[in-house]
Amino acid sequence: MLGNFSYKNATKLYFGDDSLSYLNEELPKYGKNIQLIYGGGSIKRNGIYDQIVKILKDNGKNIIEDAGVMPNPTIEKLREGVKIARDNNVDLLLAVGGGSCCDYAKAVSVSVHCDEDPWDKYYIRFEEPTCEIVPVGCILTMAGTGSEMNAGSVITNHEQKLKIGHVFGEEVMPKFSILNPKFTFSLPKRQMVAGIYDIFNHICEQYFSGEDDNTSDYLAEALMKSLIHSSLIAIEDPEDYEARSNIMWTATWALNTLISRGKSTDWMVHMIGQSVGAYTDATHGMTLAAVSLPYYRYILPYGVKKFKRFAEEVWNVSSEGKTDEQVALEGLSAMEDWMKKIGVSLNISELGATEDMIDGITEGTIILEGGYKVLSKDEVREILKQSL
Ligand code: NZQ
Ligand code: ZN
Repeated sequence: MLGNFSYKNATKLYFGDDSLSYLNEELPKYGKNIQLIYGGGSIKRNGIYDQIVKILKDNGKNIIEDAGVMPNPTIEKLREGVKIARDNNVDLLLAVGGGSCCDYAKAVSVSVHCDEDPWDKYYIRFEEPTCEIVPVGCILTMAGTGSEMNAGSVITNHEQKLKIGHVFGEEVMPKFSILNPKFTFSLPKRQMVAGIYDIFNHICEQYFSGEDDNTSDYLAEALMKSLIHSSLIAIEDPEDYEARSNIMWTATWALNTLISRGKSTDWMVHMIGQSVGAYTDATHGMTLAAVSLPYYRYILPYGVKKFKRFAEEVWNVSSEGKTDEQVALEGLSAMEDWMKKIGVSLNISELGATEDMIDGITEGTIILEGGYKVLSKDEVREILKQSL
C-alpha cells in the first residue's frame, strides 16, 4: 500500500427489502419542494412510483415532476432539469432509477445556482462547483454504476459527439441512497447483465494498475468472485433475492471510492466505451464489454504479473508448467467464457458502430495515464478496429 490518500464517504445507505420505509426518516431533513426525477416510465409500470408518491405526500411535500431522463442523459435534458429546479425553488432532488437518473440529479445539483453553462464548466473545463449545491437523494432501481454512493456524473452531448464523466468532490455525493434489491427484479435481462458487466469492469479498472502489494487488490478480488458467483445464479433465476442483493451491494462497493484508495487506476475501457457510447447511444455496460477483451489482450504484456494474479485468484487458473503469459491469457479466456455465459455484447458492431465511425470514436477517447500502458491514439484506433 504505497499511496497517500484521504477517505470519506458522505452517503448514508439504506439497504434491503424494507429500505424504502427509511425515506420517512430522511424527508423531514429537507424543505417542502421535492424534484422527483425518473426515467422513461419503468417505475410507473412496476409500482415503485406510487409507493414513493405516497410517502412524499404523507410527509407533506410538494412534488415537482421531472420525468423522461433517458439512458445516457443528455446536456439538453440537464438544462431542462436545471430550469425546473430554478422555477420551483427545489429543496431536494430525489432520483428514482439507475445510474442515469442519479448522475443527472448530481449534474442538476451543481448547476441550479450556477450562472455558467454546465457543459462547458463541468464537462469541458472540468471545473469544480463554486455555487450552492442542491442535495440529492437516490432510490436505486438498477445495479451497476455505483452512482448511488459516488460523486460521478456522466453527461452526453450528441451535437459534439462527446460523452464525458466528471467525478465531483464528496459534497456532490448523494446525501442518502435507498437500495431495495427487489426493485431491480423488473429489469430486462439485457439491462441486468449490462449492469453486471459494468460492475465487473469498475473493479478491473481499479485492479489493473500498480505493482505494490495493496489491500485494495485483495478487496477487488473478493468482489469479483462474489459477482461472478451471483451473476451465474441471477441469469438462471432473476428473482433470486440473495443473488440480486449481492449484485446490488457489490455494485456499490465496486465504485464508492474505497477500492481505488492507494491506486493509480486505469479507466481506459471506460474512456473508449464512453466514446463508443457518444456515437451509438448504446447501453453503457455493453460498450465496455465490447471493447474489453481487445483492450486487455493488448495491454497484458505490460502488466503480465497482475494479469497472472487475476487468472489465478479470480478464475482459478492453474499455473503449473506454464509461462506467466500463458496463465495470464488463460485468465482472459476464462473471463471471455463468463461474458458469453451471461450474454454481454462482444463487439461494437452489434451496438451500431461502423468502420467510418472509428476515427471519430478514437478522437473522442480521453487518454488517461494510470494503467499499465499509456495508449497513443493509434493504439486506441487499433483496439477499436479489433472490437468491430
Ligand atoms: O428509464 P426507465 O424507464 O426507468 O428505464 C431504465 C433504462 O431504460 C431501465 N430500468 C432501470 N431500472 C429498471 C429499469 N427497467 C425496469 N425495471 C427497473 N427496475 O434501465 C435502462 C437503463 O437505465 P440507466 O439508468 O441508463 O442504466 P445505468 O444504471 O447503467 O446508468 C447508465 C449511466 O450511468 C453512467 C453511464 O455512462 C450512463 O450514462 N455511469 C455513471 C457512473 C458513475 N456515476 O460513477 C459510472 C459508470 O461507469 C457510468 O459511466
Ligand atoms: Zn461503468
